[in-house]
Amino acid sequence: MILRSTSRCGEVGALTGAISLVCRECGKDHGHVLAYACDECLGALEVKIDFDRVQVTRTKISSRNKDLWRYREFLPVIDDSCVVNLGTGFTPLLRADSLAKAIGVRRLYIKNDTVNPTFSFKDRPAGIAVSKAREFRMAAVGCASTGNLAGSTAAHASAAGLKSFVFMPSTVEDPKVFHASIYGSTVILVDGTYDDVNRMAALAADRFNIGVVNVNLRPYYVEGSKTMGLEIAEQLGWRLPDRIVVPCASGALLSAIHKGIAEAHEAGLIEDDSVAMTCAQPEGCSPIVSAFRRGLERVEPVRNPKTLVQSLAIGEPGDGLQALRVIRKTGGTAGAVSDQEAIDAVYLLAKETGIFAEPGGAISVAVLKRLVEEGEVGRDEEVVCCVTGTGFKTLEVFPPPENQIRIPASFQALSAAIGPLLR
Ligand SMILES: Cc1ncc(COP(=O)(O)O)c(C=O)c1O
Ligand SMILES: [Zn+2]
Repeated sequence: MILRSTSRCGEVGALTGAISLVCRECGKDHGHVLAYACDECLGALEVKIDFDRVQVTRTKISSRNKDLWRYREFLPVIDDSCVVNLGTGFTPLLRADSLAKAIGVRRLYIKNDTVNPTFSFKDRPAGIAVSKAREFRMAAVGCASTGNLAGSTAAHASAAGLKSFVFMPSTVEDPKVFHASIYGSTVILVDGTYDDVNRMAALAADRFNIGVVNVNLRPYYVEGSKTMGLEIAEQLGWRLPDRIVVPCASGALLSAIHKGIAEAHEAGLIEDDSVAMTCAQPEGCSPIVSAFRRGLERVEPVRNPKTLVQSLAIGEPGDGLQALRVIRKTGGTAGAVSDQEAIDAVYLLAKETGIFAEPGGAISVAVLKRLVEEGEVGRDEEVVCCVTGTGFKTLEVFPPPENQIRIPASFQALSAAIGPLLR
């Protein structure tokens, strides 16, 4: 189904006529439409912005609010009045010297996306997709989610006054289900894998004309995550680090970060666009890592993901091939770690930086550590690890803490508890 954009929400903005969807495989230009697959070759469609028609400067960007809409010219929403903004983005890029020392790299930054409005990077793509759903005059939105996107889509839908239907595997962590429910969304738990969930959400998009953010709105959805790449460049003073390590499930985030960087270069904001894009996945579900390591030209699906890193348990990654191409093109690499290494990285990150992430968010740190130990990443490098989601939504995967003491309210008990620890 292809609908023309009607932009009946309000005034049209500076991007009118400058945005179209182009096929990644055959290059066919489909115009500014609601579609996600090429009608010639079934290839994935992606947004192309004509930077000859859209002028943007560092000064203009720096004069704007500290949220992702400061990169307005890079975001494919034409009608300003359709924008749904919860204050997402421009998250801290924290220089982490003691973590750098613990891991053994020259310089390390953490891009802390746990502080977004719904506590994961998913507010970036969900915010753009829900804005776009309003522009296309859709009455309801939804998503197929491994947990974080559900809460984010539900929050943006409420803020936009739209109904929402969010689909998740019934095995996801309880707080993620609760979180999506709190916004009033209809939460649909499917007994099956994420790939089953995705097919159910695709059916909902098709049969009920719902704007499913990562299915029929996907080309627009992924654009939101470009802002993480733009922010990293801006926060480093409009330059790039040697390497960016990204937790990967569908592969959309990694591809989008790089698209943001490539466009920043095209728009004249950065002089050099070289950066080694590096993928991080759990061993129990690492289709992109396997394809990279085995030198394959396509990503083979993992039929039964087996990992407690639920947020990254996508066996058939929708943007896996694109991620693979980006990793190779940029001279990056891909690494997988055990569930235990991902959990250990949560504690290491918390101890060294004060940031509490979920295992799927801290896996970038775990993979960097492993790649440095194995000599694949140089100790002289400057690296950014993207930390993409909070630990509060995955409390159930951590073992009970051993450093808690319960005491009666007396000074004697207090001295007995603290005294020996200070000696
Ligand atoms: C915390 C977290 N990090 C990273 C990802 C990976 O995102 P993508 O599917 O774009 O590769 C997800 C996906 O759900 C996630 O929840
Ligand atoms: Zn095509």
